[in-house]
This record gives sequence, structure tokens and C-alpha cells, in this order.
Amino acid sequence: MEKSTLSVQNLKKIIGKKEIIKGLNFELKEGEVFGFLGPNGAGKTTTIRMLVGLIKPTSGKIEICGYNIESHFYEAMRNLGCIVENPELYPYLSGYDNLLHFARMLDGIGKERIKEVTELVGLTERIHDKVKTYSLGMRQRLGIAQALLGKPKVLILDEPTNGLDPAGIREMRQFIRFLAEKEGLSVLVSSHLLSEIQLLCDRVAIISKGSIIRTDTVEQLLSNREQMVWRVEPLEKGKEILANVTIIEVEGDGLIRTEYDKYRAAEWNKQLVDAGVHVLEMNRKFPVLEDLFLELTGGDTID
Ligand SMILES: Nc1ncnc2c1ncn2[C@@H]1O[C@H](COP(=O)(O)OP(=O)(O)OP(=O)(O)O)[C@@H](O)[C@H]1O
Ligand SMILES: [Mg+2]
Repeated sequence: MEKSTLSVQNLKKIIGKKEIIKGLNFELKEGEVFGFLGPNGAGKTTTIRMLVGLIKPTSGKIEICGYNIESHFYEAMRNLGCIVENPELYPYLSGYDNLLHFARMLDGIGKERIKEVTELVGLTERIHDKVKTYSLGMRQRLGIAQALLGKPKVLILDEPTNGLDPAGIREMRQFIRFLAEKEGLSVLVSSHLLSEIQLLCDRVAIISKGSIIRTDTVEQLLSNREQMVWRVEPLEKGKEILANVTIIEVEGDGLIRTEYDKYRAAEWNKQLVDAGVHVLEMNRKFPVLEDLFLELTGGDTID
């Protein structure tokens, strides 16, 4: 069995009278990228703040590499690197001096490790420049370098692609995959961007209003969700024939959606043609997390 590096049991947070986090359960495995997907206000940052020890859970249990963060805080945190919201960096210091500053707070982390993490995040050329001259993407990477100084097993990143341009997002995605696959880290990434999570993560927890409503691999979440889209003439007759053989849904612009089935679709097409209906379009529609997400959350918005 794969080792679990982070485990969360029945985690709750009440602020004032409001239950903001309502009993979360999940686990991270070694070498996987785990996505925390939810709209604004769903509770991603609040959960992450509890995981990294910035705020105290109202109840529940968090273990990092087997260490309970309540009873063994130091050991747990030694295995964790994180960036919550924005990396905390000193803009008037160089990237190197920033790393040196944070390395001094950790036991046994010297210049050798600073050099290693600098290379890992690809900042060697610019590491002696002041951070205020860095692009947002470079700041994010320096933040990750800082988070990696103590050789953590678990890395937690709250919205790591926020504000990056498409090239920066792609680079960050490749880098996170690299950390998981080649360095064996478990990475928890939060995002409200569905396409991002779909491309980046092995498994996803969908969070809405403080609860996890589904956890699964991206593949499983999307399986059996393919559809066919048809444009036929005349529409009424086409609808009648398809409704006899499969589930249909008609869109405003006269497109008919049906289930997807490679073999049966050919048969449905034949039946339409035999009945004198023109099949103008027949498209296979690949599933996206967005549809599932809207379905599960019922179009959840900020509360
Ligand atoms: N200190 C606090 N006091 C009161 N309410 C809070 C506090 N912190 C968070 N909340 C509320 O908890 C809910 C979850 O907030 P949180 O920041 O965790 O969401 P999020 O999923 O990170 O959203 P976003 O995508 O906008 O970053 C929100 O309704 C927020 O207003
Ligand atoms: Mg947040």
C-alpha cells in the first residue's frame, strides 16, 4: 500500500457561530498531486491554514507523516512545506538572502541546500538579484524554494497559479508534477480553476460550503460522462427517433445531446438516415470537470 503522508479526520472549524469547515476527511499519498477544488469562499484557505498550523481546528485530527500536529507539532511541521496565499518574501533582499534568512530558522540547513533548491526551481541565474525585480512567477518559485529548504515530504500550495500568465501557469504545473513524480513529494494544491486542476492533479476533492462532496481520481470523476451532440433536420422527427433509443436533452439552439456510445451511436445514426432525417452534425463531447462541478454544487457561488 502507498504510504499516507497527510491524513485529515473529521476536521471542523467554527468561527464565531458559523461552522466554516464541516468535518473533512481526506488523505494524501506519497508522490501524488492532490487537488482541493472549490469556488470562492468554499473553505480552501481555512482548511489549509489548519493543516499548516496557522489556526487551530475546532475539532478533528491532522497527521503529517504520522505525527499528530497537536501533540507533535515540531515533528509534523518538519515534514511540511507550504505557501499560504502569497509567499512571504523580503523584496529588498536578494533571492539568496531571503533563502539564507529562512534557512537560519531551520536546523541543519546550510548553503548546500540553498544551492540545491535554487537549482530545483530554476532561479540560479537571478538568485543574487533583489526580489523586487522578480516577476510574479519567479517570486512563486522562490517561495517554493523556501518551502522546500527543510526537505519536506508534503508541500501545500494555496492557489499557486493565481495571477500568473498562461506560460507561467504551464511552467508552474510542470514544476509541481516534477516535484511529485521525480522528488516523490505529496503536493496539495488548492484552486478554483477547473481546467487547472484537471490538468495537474492525480486526485481531486471537490469542496463546497465547507464540506467535501466528492473525492476521486480525475479519470474516475470524468468517466462515463461523455456525450454526443447532434444537429438534425427536421428537428422534431430526429428528436422522436433518438428519444426512442436513448436519453436525450435538447438545447436552445436545436442541438440534441445524447449518451455517448461508439457502437450504438452508429446504429442511431442509421435509424435517423433510414427515416429520412438529415444528420448535419454528430460530435463526441469530451467531459470537463466544470460540468460535474456545476452539477454537484448546483452552481455554488460566494456566500
Ligand atoms: N476569520 C474569519 N472570520 C469569519 N469568517 C471567516 C474567517 N475566515 C474565513 N471566513 C469565512 O469562511 C469561508 C471560507 O473562507 P476561505 O477563505 O477558507 O475560502 P476559500 O475557499 O479559500 O476561498 P477563495 O477561493 O476566495 O480563496 C468564507 O465564507 C469566509 O468568509
Ligand atoms: Mg482561499
